[in-house]
Amino acid sequence: MQTLHAIDALRDTLATARRKGQRIGLVPTMGNLHAGHLELVKAARAQADLVVATIFVNPMQFGPGEDLDSYPRTLPDDQAGLSSAGCDLLFAPSVATLYPHGLEQHTRIHVPGISEGLCGGSRPGHFEGVATVVAMLFNLVQPDVACFGQKDYQQLAVIRKLVSDLHLPVAIVGVPTVRAEDGLALSSRNGYLNDAERAQAPGLYRTLGELRDALERGSSLPEAIEASRARLVERGFQPDYLEVRQAHDLAAVNASTRDAIILAAAYLGPARLIDNLAATLPR
Ligand code: PAF
Repeated sequence: MQTLHAIDALRDTLATARRKGQRIGLVPTMGNLHAGHLELVKAARAQADLVVATIFVNPMQFGPGEDLDSYPRTLPDDQAGLSSAGCDLLFAPSVATLYPHGLEQHTRIHVPGISEGLCGGSRPGHFEGVATVVAMLFNLVQPDVACFGQKDYQQLAVIRKLVSDLHLPVAIVGVPTVRAEDGLALSSRNGYLNDAERAQAPGLYRTLGELRDALERGSSLPEAIEASRARLVERGFQPDYLEVRQAHDLAAVNASTRDAIILAAAYLGPARLIDNLAATLPR
C-alpha cells in the first residue's frame, strides 16, 4: 500500500487509475483505526478496483475544549491495518496541505436542517467541519463510491444531503456498526476509557435496546425516553441527548412514523460516546 501526503502526487496516481478505467472507492477516516474502519475498507474493496483511505484529524470539526490535541495519532499501526484490509492507497495530508490559509480563511460548507440538533446541537460547527473536509476529499479523490459507518448516523445523513445538494457523482454506502462482544460500538474514543469505565460502557447500547423494546411494545415515547435517561444515569453516564427520530430524515416522529432511529450521546469519564439503534414503532 502506497502512502501519499501531497495533493499533486495523489492526483497523478488517481489520474493513472482513472485512465485505466478503474472504479475508485474512498474511506475517509481520522486514523486510530479499529475493526469498524477496516469493515469500511472491506465494503469499499467489494465495490471498487482501487481503494483509497484518508487519515486526517480534521481541526475544523473539533470545537474549543474538545479532544483535537489528544486525539490518538497512530499512523504506522493504521498503515499496517489498512494494508491487511485491502487498501491500495493512503492519503494522509497535513493540516497546512488541506487548509493552506488557515481555518478562518477557509471556505466552509453548511448543510442546513439535518446538521441541527443531536450532535450538531451539542457540538456547534461540527458538521460544518465534517461537510467541508468530506467535500474537499471528494473533490481531491473523485471517488465513484465512498463508505461511512452507521455509528455516526447523523454524520451519514449530513453527507448524503451534501452529495445530493451539490449533485456530486459519488455513491454513499452506510456500513453497519461493528460492536465488541459486549455490545459496545467500536470507536477510537473508547481508548479514553479506564478499565472500570470500559466495563460500564456497554450500558449505553443496553439502554438503547431496552428503549427499543419498550417502544416496540407500545410504551409512550416521552415516558420511555425519560426512563431510559434515568437508567443511563444509574449506569454511570452523563447523558448529552437521547432522542427518537424518523430513520430516513431525522425529523421528529409523528403518528404515522414506523421506521424510527434511537440516537444517544453520553459522557462516561473523559469519553463522549455515541450510538444508535433502529426501532419499528407500532401502529
Ligand atoms: O467519521 C470520521 O472519522 C470523520 O468525521 C470524517 C468523516 C473522516 C471526517 O473528518
